[in-house]
Amino acid sequence: MITGATIVGVGGLLSLRWADFDSVHALSKSYKNEHHTIEHDQKKFPTYTRNEVSRHNSVDTGVWITFKGNVYDITKFISHHPGGSHTIMMGAGGDVEPFWQTYTVHHANEVQNLLREYQIGVLDPTDHMKELEAKEISKTIGEDDPYSGDPTRSPLLTVLSKKPFNAETPSKLLPPTYLTPTEVFFVRNHLPVPEVDPQDYRLSVCLGTDGDPDNLQVLAEFTLDDLKTKFEPHSVDSVIQCSGNRRSDLKRIKEIKGLDWKVGAIGNARWTGVRLIDLLKSLGIDSEKYQEQIIKHIQMEGLDCDMSGQSYGASISSDLVFDQKKNVILAYQMNGEPLTRDHGYPVRLVAPGVTGARNVKWLSKVILSHEESNSHWQRKDYKSFSPNVDMFNLNFDESASVQDTPVQSAICDPADGERISLKNTDEKSGLSLPVRGYAFSGGGKMIIRVDVSVDGGKSWITAKLEDVPKDERGLPDYTNRNQTYSWTRWSIDVPISDELVKNKTGQMEILCRAFDSAYNSQPERPETIWNVRGVMNNSWHKIKVELTIQ
Ligand code: MTE
Repeated sequence: MITGATIVGVGGLLSLRWADFDSVHALSKSYKNEHHTIEHDQKKFPTYTRNEVSRHNSVDTGVWITFKGNVYDITKFISHHPGGSHTIMMGAGGDVEPFWQTYTVHHANEVQNLLREYQIGVLDPTDHMKELEAKEISKTIGEDDPYSGDPTRSPLLTVLSKKPFNAETPSKLLPPTYLTPTEVFFVRNHLPVPEVDPQDYRLSVCLGTDGDPDNLQVLAEFTLDDLKTKFEPHSVDSVIQCSGNRRSDLKRIKEIKGLDWKVGAIGNARWTGVRLIDLLKSLGIDSEKYQEQIIKHIQMEGLDCDMSGQSYGASISSDLVFDQKKNVILAYQMNGEPLTRDHGYPVRLVAPGVTGARNVKWLSKVILSHEESNSHWQRKDYKSFSPNVDMFNLNFDESASVQDTPVQSAICDPADGERISLKNTDEKSGLSLPVRGYAFSGGGKMIIRVDVSVDGGKSWITAKLEDVPKDERGLPDYTNRNQTYSWTRWSIDVPISDELVKNKTGQMEILCRAFDSAYNSQPERPETIWNVRGVMNNSWHKIKVELTIQ
């Protein structure tokens, strides 16, 4: 170990050749311009060579990482970090910057601040310089951006993060159409979008009995053409909603690490493809033969990989797949067109009524197994906890993975915080404001009612439901009350209070809540369901608008 004092002092600099010094200086200057730099307090910290750091690459030896020239001992941190066992360990003993280019969520200031308390040293400047040089070289040949092959997207999307690409549909674009147009359908990617040649595409169906991912028995492989021509196509209208939809309301209560989704991490589309049950039956696999014995879960893997070659994965219960009515689909079309790259081209799984995370895109493997997927996203994310659980006492193993989602509704138009000017043309009939939104419940439950309040929930008015099937008398037809996977859009004209009309200006609060066919409804306050991962927020949706009356 070299001490920080010698290196930072004149002696340290003299040990570098002048040419080296110039290039370190130039490189770190351009580097600093590009990145937020974490301050080095070199006087306080000893200096470690890359070799020394790389020996600390496991929990036994201690887990050290470097980031922007600083050395951190994150052994304690990883045991509490939601992605600990996977994402961070990929960088153990090395520099985490390349990994965090993929997982750019870690560039968030809060994580950098968290790291600060784990700093134990600074990286030997000679080693640091070599790495910066290598980085510069690979940059000029365009090697270091795993996202450079991502597709271009609609400028209409509200972008939350570029790498990986995550964007939501602006709320006002949701109510106008029953099927959300593909180009504005929200995108939730964890990794770079894979480029798939349809000729090379293969879907493998495997049997995994001992939980070892290297020990899979491949039962069959299908080309894209096989899927399109050998099976009868089926379509299902289904919502896909991210578990993090409406996280922003939870973040207002207490900070949460995660994307700040408002109400637009949801969309409704027509998915067409092969029913997974049909494909399994063609291999002689049916519920009677396998379900009771080993196939409890259907695991899936995507073609999107991180730098260690680990692909996105998730699983759903096999009951869902073997249920004739549930229509779990290997979709190759979205809204009547081939899937777009962002939405999983050429094939994705669509599990109607199940949270977005399990609808695996760029599907490469279907694994029949007795256990849930071992993927980070199945086991260490997309789970909820009680509000008292924080990063330091959470136990992912004890929490159920999110599958079916609870009843949800949101106001989309007007948007929260909007300034609206209304003309009071007919003073007698009273002034009102048109309000529109969506409602949805997981597991196939139909929406049966949406209530709206403009007095904080003291009184409620019933919204008009669109997209509800009607019987011959024109009344709602509840026959499919347990088999509805699309959303229900709703609308209402809410009355403007006399006081607001008199004052000609003021703020108005609007609330909504939905009921599903099991008469489940939404919790009143987000505080009661705040959770450390910020998932499954389905509290009453509340917006405020500023009104001016002319
Ligand atoms: N599948 C793969 N292979 N990779 C992913 O990053 N994201 C999941 C799911 N399937 C993801 C994936 C999540 S969290 C969600 S919410 C949905 O895809 C989003 O689907 P969309 O991008 O088509 O809207």
